[in-house]
Amino acid sequence: MERLFLATGNKEKIKEVKAILPSGKFILETCLERPDMPEVQEDGATLLENSIKKSISAASYFKMTAIADDTGLEVEALNGSPGVYSARWAGENCTYMDNNLKLLRELKGVPWSKRKARFISVITIASPYGKIESFEGIVDGYITEKILGDEGFGYDPLFFVPEFGLTYAQMPASMKNRISHRAKALKALSKYLEELK
Ligand code: IMP
Repeated sequence: MERLFLATGNKEKIKEVKAILPSGKFILETCLERPDMPEVQEDGATLLENSIKKSISAASYFKMTAIADDTGLEVEALNGSPGVYSARWAGENCTYMDNNLKLLRELKGVPWSKRKARFISVITIASPYGKIESFEGIVDGYITEKILGDEGFGYDPLFFVPEFGLTYAQMPASMKNRISHRAKALKALSKYLEELK
């Protein structure tokens, strides 16, 4: 079985990636087991730049194939913000709730038709020899006017997916993991890995 390093210590992300990637095909190691991974400044101008930077850094440090996900929420009425700044949007040590409350404040009074948003995940796979490939997953939705649901993490309680009539946080994990931005990017990665064989 192939060893794959997932360059994150974010427990929610790790849980989702483990649930989405085909089971029994990879032994996934993460920053939870290997906290010695050198810190990577996520200072790229794009999600793609950050995911490339994180995956290359992990692959060269651990000398194994590594994947890194960088995700952002783009809100149309905020000209694409928070985008690449989604993690620390409300300030340096902010919580998920701080970010959600900021988003609700910024969109106060904005009508439903103008609350369009999309989640984008970019996943890059890097070999220790410097070969890289990147995959993108996008889901379109709307930002709700209040917190709805308590599953998931991050902006999940405010991200409403019209096809399902639910926010990500109202979906069981198995459903989010079937249809999410991260699921789409990981499915494209899995297809690529299958085709390599
Ligand atoms: P990261 O830089 O890829 O870790 O993600 C940036 C931020 O986007 C995170 O801190 C979360 O607030 C948010 N985020 C990432 N993935 C998701 C998701 O699947 N649902 C909701 N929020 C997410």
